[in-house]
Amino acid sequence: MKRHVERFGIKDQWFVALKHGKKHDRKSSRRVRYKEATLETVNESIYDHPKYYDLVFGTDCAAELKFISHVNEHFLNSKAKHLFEPACGTGRLLYGLAKRGFNVAGIDLNEKAVEFSNARFKRHGLKPTASVADMSDFTSPRKFDLAFNTINSFRHLTSAPLAKKHLNCMAAHAKRGSLYLIGLHLTPTATDPMDEESWAARRGHLSVLTNMWTVERNPQKRLERFGIRFDVYTPTNQFRIEDELCMRSYTDKQFAKLIRDSNDWEIAETFDFAYNINRPVEVDDSSEDVIYVLRKK
Ligand SMILES: C[S@@+](CC[C@H](N)C(=O)[O-])C[C@H]1O[C@@H](n2cnc3c(N)ncnc32)[C@H](O)[C@@H]1O
Repeated sequence: MKRHVERFGIKDQWFVALKHGKKHDRKSSRRVRYKEATLETVNESIYDHPKYYDLVFGTDCAAELKFISHVNEHFLNSKAKHLFEPACGTGRLLYGLAKRGFNVAGIDLNEKAVEFSNARFKRHGLKPTASVADMSDFTSPRKFDLAFNTINSFRHLTSAPLAKKHLNCMAAHAKRGSLYLIGLHLTPTATDPMDEESWAARRGHLSVLTNMWTVERNPQKRLERFGIRFDVYTPTNQFRIEDELCMRSYTDKQFAKLIRDSNDWEIAETFDFAYNINRPVEVDDSSEDVIYVLRKK
């Protein structure tokens, strides 16, 4: 059975209106027609569009920021000084944590995302700290106390050797006892995995509707392909960006084995995407959204 969820985090009524082909413009109290069928489409990487990516994923990161701070308090007695994010993207979390007083650094493969992150830091009088690098092969002069890699970025490492190289590289840059949070969607084996998600975000006159769906699951090769589209609406322009993402899949057991085999890391605790530090969860074959708290041995 196909499972589909629509996340109406921010402007739910408005999104429902959009889905039905009409937008209610609150300011002017006019009903504006919106023509989905005529959207011009470009096939490009969504990561090459940091402005839209950051709106889609950056408007609602309060829970993630709070959770990272709570992990520091709960597991490290608030002693974490240096925070690190591999695959930091637009730096939406780095910026939020820098504002909370942490020393942060990040790397990402995508130059445009790194540029976007550094520009935001500079705009707000902060020293830019993101750089272009591959998370499976990087060096940094500084070791971290707490690192985080949320919303499936880890799964961009599409083979076992790459995932292992990344964990080794992270361990080489981690102090003893430091923590690494990995947030990802597992493939449940006891239930059907989610097949489609839609959500909406708006900032000022810019709105982006996002839809993500499964194209193919190949459990033998441990690869999953997803279609993703951003429908971008501004008062003067409307268009669609369509992309395909390829990710390595993990069941709960496959992920646990990867960590066991790494020799450098152990699973200290597990949470779900409720980001509630007081509510750890038990991961099993029906788990889907999981945040692993890894501890450097
Ligand atoms: C889903 S985004 C997450 C970005 C950011 N962590 C966030 O929470 O918004 C995934 C990011 O991983 C980056 N990425 C993919 N493969 C990478 C690699 N091997 N090394 C570093 N970054 C990578 C992409 O460029 C993209 O910015």
